[in-house]
Amino acid sequence: MERSFVMIKPDGVERRLIGEIISRFEKKGFKIVQGKIVTADIVTVEKHYEEHKDKPFFSKLVDYILEGPVMPMVLEGENVVEIIRLMVGNKEPRLAAPGTIRGDFSHSVTKNIIHASDSIESAEREIRIWFAE
Ligand code: TYD
Ligand code: MG
Repeated sequence: MERSFVMIKPDGVERRLIGEIISRFEKKGFKIVQGKIVTADIVTVEKHYEEHKDKPFFSKLVDYILEGPVMPMVLEGENVVEIIRLMVGNKEPRLAAPGTIRGDFSHSVTKNIIHASDSIESAEREIRIWFAE
């Protein structure tokens, strides 16, 4: 069964949006197969965002993820990667449609509540990084 990796970012945890977010995924029919609340370390976060390491926003992004606890999790279901990206919404606040998680709860390009894998390969890579044990 296809799996995706999702992480509720520090602002999502701080704003008590865990239940709201998990509820949306469960109601959609996806199964949460792993999850934990952790304060991430810099090595993990830099590895997670490796593709962005040369971007101007990289250090700000890493600092933000380190600000407080996050909730990484693994979801399972048919076409889960693509469907969860739709449910998360666009990272550009002006394009994040109402009804999506970002569209409903954020208007910031940095503090945007949630990460979701953009491909099956990214999901496998990110699950290995966050659930290594
Ligand atoms: P990206 O992988 O492009 O977006 P997504 O989270 O939708 O896969 O970027 C990763 C994160 O980097 C994004 O969620 C927010 C942050 N970011 C910024 O802080 N500033 C920016 O200009 C961009 C493009 C992204
Ligand atoms: Mg991305």
